[in-house]
Amino acid sequence: TTVFFGAIVNPARRALEYLPQAAIGVREGEIVFFDRHAESASASAATHNIKNFDTVDLSKTTSFLFPGFIDTHIHAPQYPNSGIFGKTTLLDWLTTYTFPLESSLKDPKIAQDVYSRVVKKTLANGTTTAAYYATVHVESTKKLADICLSQGQRALVGRVCMDQNTPDYYRDASVEEAKKSDREVVEYIQSLNKPDRILPIITPRFAPSCTGEIMSWQGDYAQKNNLHIQTHISENKGEIAWVKELYPACKSYADTYHQHGLLTEKTLLAHAIYLTDEELNLVEQQKCGLSHCPISNSSLTSGEFHARKILDRNIPFGLGTDVSGGYAPSILSTARHGLLVSRHVAMKSENDADKLSVDEVLYLATLGGAEALKLDSKIGSFEVGKKFDAQQIDLETNGSPVDIFDWELPISEGNKLENLVHKWLFNGDDRNTSTVWVNGDKVVTK
Ligand code: GUN
Ligand code: FE
Repeated sequence: TTVFFGAIVNPARRALEYLPQAAIGVREGEIVFFDRHAESASASAATHNIKNFDTVDLSKTTSFLFPGFIDTHIHAPQYPNSGIFGKTTLLDWLTTYTFPLESSLKDPKIAQDVYSRVVKKTLANGTTTAAYYATVHVESTKKLADICLSQGQRALVGRVCMDQNTPDYYRDASVEEAKKSDREVVEYIQSLNKPDRILPIITPRFAPSCTGEIMSWQGDYAQKNNLHIQTHISENKGEIAWVKELYPACKSYADTYHQHGLLTEKTLLAHAIYLTDEELNLVEQQKCGLSHCPISNSSLTSGEFHARKILDRNIPFGLGTDVSGGYAPSILSTARHGLLVSRHVAMKSENDADKLSVDEVLYLATLGGAEALKLDSKIGSFEVGKKFDAQQIDLETNGSPVDIFDWELPISEGNKLENLVHKWLFNGDDRNTSTVWVNGDKVVTK
């Protein structure tokens, strides 16, 4: 057993608990006790009848423990393009920057290089679970799964399926070929036999690039095998018009996925900026989760997601970097930008209630993501029985971008811990993430 003792910040539904002196016991990757108020590591161990234990003492004045981030939407092969998007919007961005780069990952050497670097980078930024899109290529997608496993990041890994309306050089050759490739990747990931660490996820790229035939097959295959599904929805107005044109018999973009069996409890829909009330009713009724990708939505001028409207409904959602529509591999940056986008929404609506708080965006960055992925019984916050996925935040590391003043300490006093967390959200970065654990194992030490 390992006992973690010190300041702990824990997401609860739409809020954070600030616990200046708490203790968590971890055995075989799982949280076995959580004392929200603790005297010392040994006092907590004694209370829980634990005789042999190691201690991780975080009770240094400017450190706290926070759950690992959950990135609910990231394109691993697009990582080399982070920051490269010019003034494009979604559809010309895809053809100008994205398809050429993604097609180059057919080469397993390139895939190895790109994937090992994106997993390393996101882990260093505190992302302990990620829902990845890979490319159409089977062998490279398997490699991404291997790399997540070997570096110790929890992941859902999806082969991108696209069998129409993309360039000839980058597309599934036929519906039959697409089915075979999907099956091969799913069976490979299942053969790794680490369902707690790495899961397959069925990934139709988005309705414009998938035929009705492949979407129906994927819906059926996912439902029969109880698999997660991820795709894009309602990100850009030109995209929405295109879907209407391609699928005139469907009532809406959301209905297009529904008619093909793709809206399930384990479906994660990215962007969802322009969904109508009727579409939101459908998404809610089907119990799907959403991924809010604010940096991408601003960068590609896609639009403003109305987070408050979704929080007011029973639709779970988390945050996605959407690398490289989003330029940052960091969920901390994404949370910060999500907060600012909500302020822009509030300026337009002249309704203060539309503003997201620091606590809300950090909840979305962790537990909200776990809820959207239907993994909240295992990850997303510290609770007895959950896996220990955590990051140590240290605000006084060498070169820390956050300045702390003497009067802001000790964190055990008043709302000082809360203020430090707020400073971390706005000015912190990966230099402040000094250690990362997944399933109780240290996967990053700086
Ligand atoms: N829609 C279809 N493909 C993509 C993609 O790669 N990124 C984003 N942001 N939207 C998409
Ligand atoms: Fe995306």
